[in-house]
Amino acid sequence: MSIIRSQVIGCGAYLPDRILTNAELAKTVDTSDEWIASRTGIRRRHIAKDGETTVDLALKAAERAMADAKIGADQLDLIVVATTTPNETFPSVATSVQARLGMTRGAAFDVQAVCSGFIYGMAVADNFIKAAQAKTILLIGAETMSRLMDWTDRTTCVLFGDGAGAVVLQAGEGKGDSTDRGVFNTKLYSDGRLHDLLYVDGGPSTTGTAGHLRMLGKEVFKHAVINIADSIEAAVRDSGVTVADIDWFVPHQANQRILDATARRLKVPAERFISTIAEHGNTSAASVPLALDVAVNDGRIKHGDLVLLEAMGGGLTWGAALLRW
Ligand code: ACO
Repeated sequence: MSIIRSQVIGCGAYLPDRILTNAELAKTVDTSDEWIASRTGIRRRHIAKDGETTVDLALKAAERAMADAKIGADQLDLIVVATTTPNETFPSVATSVQARLGMTRGAAFDVQAVCSGFIYGMAVADNFIKAAQAKTILLIGAETMSRLMDWTDRTTCVLFGDGAGAVVLQAGEGKGDSTDRGVFNTKLYSDGRLHDLLYVDGGPSTTGTAGHLRMLGKEVFKHAVINIADSIEAAVRDSGVTVADIDWFVPHQANQRILDATARRLKVPAERFISTIAEHGNTSAASVPLALDVAVNDGRIKHGDLVLLEAMGGGLTWGAALLRW
C-alpha cells in the first residue's frame, strides 16, 4: 500500500551576530557564569541587534532551508511560523515572510504554542500534507525572546536567546511501514490550568503592552521531564519502532539537566540527545530547528536516521514528533 509521507527536504538556521556571555550578564544582574552553567548548561546566547526582528531572523533561516531543499518561493503552498515574539500583534510573521520571499500564492499563518511551537507547527504541516491540502510547506521557528525579558530579573533573563530555524516539508510516497522516510507520528498536549507557571504579564487585551516573561522555574522543571518522556513514548507507540531504535533526540533546549533527566528516564544514552543549550540558550520555538540544523550540518543526523523532536513550553504545552530523516 502506498501512503503520503511528509518528508524533510531541506533545513536551515540563522543566529544573530551579537553574542552575550554569562560573564557579561553578571555585570548587570546578580549572577555568575558558575551559577548559570551549573544550573542550566548555558554559557552564551545570541541577541538580535536593535531593529533586527523576528521576521528578519525567520527570513534568513527560511532562505537557507529553501536553498538546501533547492526550491523557490513559487513552489511553496504554505508557510507556517511558530513564534511567540511576532513583530506586530497582527499581521502574522508568516505573511511578512511570505511577502519578503516574493511568494504570491498559497497561504501563511503563525502557530502560538511558545517553546512547543515547532512541534505544533510540525503537526499542522504534516496534517496539511497528509490531507493533500498542501504539497510543499515551509515550517519556521523564529524568536526574539530578548524582547520579552525583564533584564533586571536574574531568574529569567539569563535563560533565553534569539534565533530561527526552518525546514521544508514535502509530500512523498511511503509504503506505510517503519522503513519509510518522513513523519510517522506527531503528539500534542496542553494543560491550560498551568498558566501561572510560565506566562507573559502583558498583551493587547490586558495591558496594551508586550509584557515580560514570568516563570516559576522549579515548578516548570517538575512537569518537564515527566511530560516530555510521556509524549516521546506516545509518539513511538504504534509506529513500528521502539525508543531504543531512535538514533537522535532533538529536544527543546531549556535546561541541560532536563535533557539528561529525560535520557535517564527513557534509559537511552545522553549522547543521543542533541544539545546546543550552551551556545544558544533557550530560543523557545526556534530551539528545536536550530539544534536540528547543527546536527545535520555536523554530520550526526544522516538520511535514514530515526529522529525524535520534542518540546515543552508555556501553556503548558508539550509534544513530540517522530520521523525518519
Ligand atoms: N543567578 C544566581 N542565583 C539565582 C539566579 C541567577 N541567575 N536565578 C535564581 N537564583 C537563585 C534564586 O533566587 C534562589 O535563591 P534562594 O535559594 O536564596 O531563594 C536559588 O538561586 C535557587 O533558585 P531555584 O529557582 O530554586 O533554582 P533551580 O535550581 O530550580 O534552577 C531554573 C532555576 C534554571 C530556572 C530551573 O528551575 C529550570 O530550568 N526550570 C525549567 C525551565 C524550563 O524548562 N523552561 C521551558 C519552558 S520555557 C518557555 O516555554 C518559554
